[in-house]
Amino acid sequence: MKAILYTTKYGATREYAEWLSAAAKIPSIDIKQDPDIARYDGLILGTPVFADHFRISKWMKTHWNTLKGKEIIIFSTGVKPNQGTIKEALPWVDKEISYHPLPGRVILEELRGIDWLIARIISIKDKSLVKDEVRQEHIKELIKAAKKL
Ligand SMILES: Cc1cc2nc3c(=O)[nH]c(=O)nc-3n(C[C@H](O)[C@H](O)[C@H](O)COP(=O)(O)O)c2cc1C
Repeated sequence: MKAILYTTKYGATREYAEWLSAAAKIPSIDIKQDPDIARYDGLILGTPVFADHFRISKWMKTHWNTLKGKEIIIFSTGVKPNQGTIKEALPWVDKEISYHPLPGRVILEELRGIDWLIARIISIKDKSLVKDEVRQEHIKELIKAAKKL
């Protein structure tokens, strides 16, 4: 049995997870709901990237003993064009994981607290930070990979 487990702060990763869920017919669950990982043999994990850090990494580390025996695909949501590799993002992961970085969004009006402040400061110098590139068409390859999992 397969599942899409994701975390999100502003909704973009949830949007991708729900599109993927509808296309690949795999349930999507927010990790806040504390899903029973042991039930699944194939997992697609979705995470936003904040300050070059995968938001899901702490949860993955906590559950790594249960996760490592399973087939895993990771997708990330972020606005940087190059997200590097899984080895760089999760150096403690000791198995091959297929990785799909997806374009994200930053809308200043939606951000809260320190996120707004950081994005506001960066966006003064780098206008390319503020954008919305979340589109269903970006998950074509991910859908194929999820169906094969
Ligand atoms: C404070 C802040 C830091 C961010 N840092 C990164 C980053 O390091 N790399 C990146 O690709 N995107 C970065 N982003 C963009 C987010 O990853 C993007 O907004 C993403 O769509 C958020 O996903 P979510 O809506 O599922 O929370 C940052 C956004 C904010 C507000």
